Order: sequence, then structure tokens, then C-alpha cells
Amino acid sequence: MPGPLVVFYSRTGHTRRIAYEIAAALDAEIGEIHEPGNRRGPLGYVRSSIEALLGVAPRLSPNRLDLRNRPVVVIGTPIWFWNIASPVRSFLLGHRTRMGRVAFFCTCGGSGERKVLRDLRSVCGRAPVATMALTERQCAAGAHDEELAHFLARVQQGTVQPDGAYPTHRPKPT
Ligand SMILES: Cc1cc2nc3c(=O)[nH]c(=O)nc-3n(C[C@H](O)[C@H](O)[C@H](O)COP(=O)(O)O)c2cc1C
Repeated sequence: MPGPLVVFYSRTGHTRRIAYEIAAALDAEIGEIHEPGNRRGPLGYVRSSIEALLGVAPRLSPNRLDLRNRPVVVIGTPIWFWNIASPVRSFLLGHRTRMGRVAFFCTCGGSGERKVLRDLRSVCGRAPVATMALTERQCAAGAHDEELAHFLARVQQGTVQPDGAYPTHRPKPT
């Protein structure tokens, strides 16, 4: 029986850092979403913005992740223009039928987290057992212990939250 899985995409490292912390706490396998090419520099920023705004799902590098029969799949995304990062959108569209219990987290500058957590739920087609939103400042400063502990407790509890009532942490003011 496979264990928990943490899947994430990260352009500048914040989401990666949190994904590894979650994976360590849950003793989970970790899967980073990769794609051909890169998104470095101003061009990468512009491309990422356009894709996020238009809901584009770019091509990803192949991966061997098996999402079936997991006790939980934790999905992490940066927020790009109040949207799911486009590589995460691609991943979810390709794998959503293979997921059971899910939990979502996002990292951001400080806005768009409620919409993105809602969007994750709608793209996956299922309600999460836990959600968490952290600012890049919290991630960089390691100032997220309380939020992380709460998130992990919800993941371990594993109870799907009723519509509209699942827990969402607003990022702390930056
Ligand atoms: C193209 C782009 C668009 C962004 N749009 C938003 C946004 O709408 N709201 C926000 O709070 N942060 C926004 N950010 C900031 C990122 O969400 C934040 O830096 C995040 O932690 C990056 O995660 P990463 O380091 O894992 O790539 C944006 C960043 C990029 C690159």
C-alpha cells in the first residue's frame, strides 16, 4: 500500500521548501512537477502570468508518480496572478481521476489564496481534508509553524470538510 504523496511546482523555491517540510512530517513521498525549458527571468515571469490568467495547461516532463491508493495526495502551488500555477493545472488535469483524499497548500505574495484554494478544489473535483496558504515572507523566515501544525493535524485527521466550511488560513500580513 503506497503512503502519502506531496506533489508541487516551484519556480523560486518557496513552495518547494514547504513541500519538503510537509513530506518530512508525514513521512511522504515527494514529487516535483517538472517541465521542458525554464521560466527564469522577465520572459519566464511574463509567460507564467499569461498562462495563469488564460488557464493554459503547458506540457510537462514525464513523471512516474502513481497517485492511486494513497491515503492522501497533498498538492502545492505558487499563486500566479490570482490563479493556480499553470504546471500544477496541467498536472491536475492529467491526474485528477487517480486521486482519492486531497489536501491543498499555496504560497503567495499576499493575495488570491481563497480563490486559488477554491480553484484547486474545482479542478480536482473533490473537497480537501486541509488547506493552507502562506506568504513568501513566512516561508523565507520560517514563520509558519502554527499554520503548518494545524494543516498537518487536519491532514492526519483526514476528514473532508463540508462545502464552504473547510479550513483556510489567511496569510499573515507581510
Ligand atoms: C507570474 C507570477 C505571478 C504572481 N502572482 C501573484 C498573485 O496574484 N498573488 C500573490 O500573492 N503572489 C503572486 N506571485 C508571487 C508568488 O505567488 C510567490 O512568490 C510564491 O511564493 C512563489 O512560489 P515559488 O517560490 O515556489 O515559485 C506571483 C509570482 C509570479 C512569478
